[in-house]
Amino acid sequence: MDMDIKAVIGTNSWGGKLYGKALRGSYVDDSVIKEAMEEGNRLGIKVYDMARDYGLGKAQKMLGEFGTDDIIISAKYTPFKRYKKNCVRRSLEKDLEDFHRRYVDIYWLHLPIDIKEHLNEIIDLYKEGKIHYIGVSNFDLEECRLSKQILENAGIPLYGVQNHYSIISREWEKNGLIDWCKANNVSFWAWAVLEEGLLVDPNIKSGFSLMKMYTNRQKKKLRDLYRVLISTAKNHDISVAQVAESFCSTKGIVPICGCRKPRQVKELAKAVDVKLTDAEIKRIEEEADRANAKVLGHDIFRFYVPKKDKITV
Ligand SMILES: NC(=O)c1ccc[n+]([C@@H]2O[C@H](COP(=O)([O-])OP(=O)(O)OC[C@H]3O[C@@H](n4cnc5c(N)ncnc54)[C@H](OP(=O)(O)O)[C@@H]3O)[C@@H](O)[C@H]2O)c1
Repeated sequence: MDMDIKAVIGTNSWGGKLYGKALRGSYVDDSVIKEAMEEGNRLGIKVYDMARDYGLGKAQKMLGEFGTDDIIISAKYTPFKRYKKNCVRRSLEKDLEDFHRRYVDIYWLHLPIDIKEHLNEIIDLYKEGKIHYIGVSNFDLEECRLSKQILENAGIPLYGVQNHYSIISREWEKNGLIDWCKANNVSFWAWAVLEEGLLVDPNIKSGFSLMKMYTNRQKKKLRDLYRVLISTAKNHDISVAQVAESFCSTKGIVPICGCRKPRQVKELAKAVDVKLTDAEIKRIEEEADRANAKVLGHDIFRFYVPKKDKITV
């Protein structure tokens, strides 16, 4: 597998009519998603990120139905409950059935719950050839260090960390996690780089959803940032969404974008080939910090993590 991954298509918003409307305010027909995947194949954007609950389970089935043999599948085990023997194995087996595959390319432990127990089972599945690379998601630095150690004790490298990151949510950069990833050759994947559609052209109209209601309330705070993003977009003849994507790739961070349409895949493919200048990045960051917008970050999952799992070093 070619692991020089530049960009990833997120599948959280793929799915049924009601789900699409509730989450994104609009629904995209399966045939449009199929076309978006064909566009990805043409442009070499072939990595799909998912978890069993995405699209209420429909995203997985769509990937199995429309995906070609050469796509890269990034799937997760989501531990909404404490560890129970074979819980990961059972979940992965259902995934593989959905994907019509004997393995997943990258498998992430979605939350830092019972880290040792879950990773040990993931290690067994890796050794059986059912998983090719292992990552962790929504983990802080201490939890990443621990995971790396557990995997290395079994002779396996930690492939990546998948956490929330965008122009307006850069806490993992500020607290040193991203530097640690770079220093340790661990890939950093950023989820929600478009902040659920907040970091796109502010004039794009979207349907109503509870999520949109929340994110749209932040738009006022972002007025000055939008001005900077629009001017940066003009410099490179790209869109505001592409500036948000390229902001990540310029820094060596892999953007995961919720693409449902061929045009969005095309934009993502082009964006990761654009290099923003240091001056542009500095200006964007200064304006983003000034805006101080509140978004739904990794904290929304943290309440699932039982206190006794918190690690002190
Ligand atoms: N590991 C984790 O815990 C975790 C958590 C959350 C998400 N994720 C991953 O991150 C992925 C991305 O997150 P997301 O899908 O929630 O949100 P997102 O990528 O931040 O935003 C998706 C929104 O951006 C819009 N969009 C996409 N491309 C665009 C473009 N080129 N121009 C204008 N608008 C564009 C979409 O518009 P339309 O509505 O028109 O399609 C949609 O409203 C998920 O699918 C998932 O794979 C991981």
